[in-house]
Amino acid sequence: MSKSPPRVRSQSAPAPWRAEIERMLISERQLARRVREMSVEIERDFRGREMVVVSLLNGTVMFLADLIRHLTLPLRLDFIGVSSYGAGTESGDLVFTKELRLDVCGRDVLLVDDILDTGRTVHRVLAKLCALRPRCIKTCVLLDKKARRIEDVGADYIGFEIPDFFVVGYGLDFAERYRNLPFVGVLHPDIYSRKQTSTRRSGHPHPPAALKISAP
Ligand code: IMP
Ligand code: MG
Repeated sequence: MSKSPPRVRSQSAPAPWRAEIERMLISERQLARRVREMSVEIERDFRGREMVVVSLLNGTVMFLADLIRHLTLPLRLDFIGVSSYGAGTESGDLVFTKELRLDVCGRDVLLVDDILDTGRTVHRVLAKLCALRPRCIKTCVLLDKKARRIEDVGADYIGFEIPDFFVVGYGLDFAERYRNLPFVGVLHPDIYSRKQTSTRRSGHPHPPAALKISAP
């Protein structure tokens, strides 16, 4: 089981991104170190078992790639596509855009997601996976925004606990952009208000108030 995840302290974003990213919350180096630590915990807990890694598209792309390259246990990999459609600043209904193809009945499953926010996504996916009768399911998320939780759901492995900011990078997007940033950062409020009209999202933008952060 995961020990307490490290807390984050914000820093200036790297120069090429400074106009759009107000603060860097987690650097490439911090991500690399923590993802490696998580892989060690997972390896220890799943030792002697063959696991099925079920990863949620699209936000897990970088995290997943970095995490599983450290794992030496036998594993099979599959994806579930899930999107959130909504109006305003909150996430709306969940829509499954890709279903699981591997049979997980009787298997040890590791569910991987980018961020636990309200918890609706993981809650819903866990219910779906449980119905397939795996031997066990453990949940692994890169980020945990506890302050926004609505569903009573947690994760077995948590990379970082973060405050209530809307973050992008390292796979996480805003209006499908910024997934390619090698770090996790807080989007500048100007970008947020310019893109406010976007209708289809993989997550939910935060209210601008959530973007107020204190200097390190
Ligand atoms: P939920 O509210 O826990 O269901 O989170 C739903 C999804 O919203 C997550 O899997 C992310 O893809 C997205 N999301 C939540 N918070 C953020 C954020 O701060 N930045 C980018 N995407 C987010
Ligand atoms: Mg997601």
